[in-house]
Amino acid sequence: MALEDLIKAVDEQLLSVTQSSVPVLQDASHHILAAGGKRLRPRLVLLANAAVNGPTPADAVPLAVGIELIHTATLVHDDINDHGTMRRGRETVNARWGGTVALLTGDFMFTKVYQLMATYPGEINAILADATATLVEGETLQILASKQGTLDRDTYMEIIAKKTASLFVAAVELGATIAHAPAGWVTGLKDYAFNLGLAFQIEDDILDLSGDAETLGKNAGIDVAQGRGLAVAMQGGRPSGNGVTIELANDSLPAVEGFGDSLLEAVTKGREKAREYADLAVQSLDVLPASPARDALRALAYQAVNRDH
Ligand code: IPE
Ligand code: IPE
Ligand code: MG
Ligand code: MG
Repeated sequence: MALEDLIKAVDEQLLSVTQSSVPVLQDASHHILAAGGKRLRPRLVLLANAAVNGPTPADAVPLAVGIELIHTATLVHDDINDHGTMRRGRETVNARWGGTVALLTGDFMFTKVYQLMATYPGEINAILADATATLVEGETLQILASKQGTLDRDTYMEIIAKKTASLFVAAVELGATIAHAPAGWVTGLKDYAFNLGLAFQIEDDILDLSGDAETLGKNAGIDVAQGRGLAVAMQGGRPSGNGVTIELANDSLPAVEGFGDSLLEAVTKGREKAREYADLAVQSLDVLPASPARDALRALAYQAVNRDH
């Protein structure tokens, strides 16, 4: 089955598994799930599966659904933490239904993953559980570092590895493990996904600085305004005086008190770094046999650092 047909199946299952007799849970879940999103993590599951010649692609579909549910649940919770008002081009769940319903909607989606994974082997469940715990650790480290003004570059790298790259790694590991791929191929895919995750999050932080909300489909400029992300890390913590005021502009960098030219530097250096990680990701795929799926994974790495949303 072609990748886009499998993604269609993923989209359908995302909506069917989040049906509920409590209307607000279903409405809020469907609100964010039906808004789309890039479905990058499900693509990673399915392409990793195809790249190792997985004999039954349909077996990977529920894994792709599970990983997207985890991702989406963390976005719903992230928007509570980050005071986000816009997500995937729509109001956030917290903006529309309030923080409490948003918290419960995230919980609901997390819990649905257990049901979905019940028939899969322990090692598959362990991959998902480990990645989710690591992601939560990353989000927590971020909140602490930004509150304490201690977000330096090393902490930033640890945070993005945990909050973003961990789920990318789990995605390819799931797709390859369910296909019983040889260990060397799984390692190559995991190296690819780790570097892709770093590149992707650095680019996401650049877009927070240089993108506009309408194209992004989510708030712009909120990381720097709230003392987190690439630009804050590059200057070793909060700007002096902590007087962060922000003027958002659609076609230029936001002016933030205390940052001076460092925003431009963050974007320039960040772009360089993101490309380096994307190149590393691409190289990691060399251990795999040539295939259209391997080409598609390579293309995803370049797209991750050349995007406007
Ligand atoms: C957003 O992820 C959160 C980050 C890790 C940067 P995506 O950019 O993949 O979000 P959607 O799924 O397309 O909305
Ligand atoms: C969030 O990172 C990553 C998660 C694990 C939820 P961001 O805070 O940068 O994600 P966005 O920009 O809100 O999508
Ligand atoms: Mg956020
Ligand atoms: Mg972001």
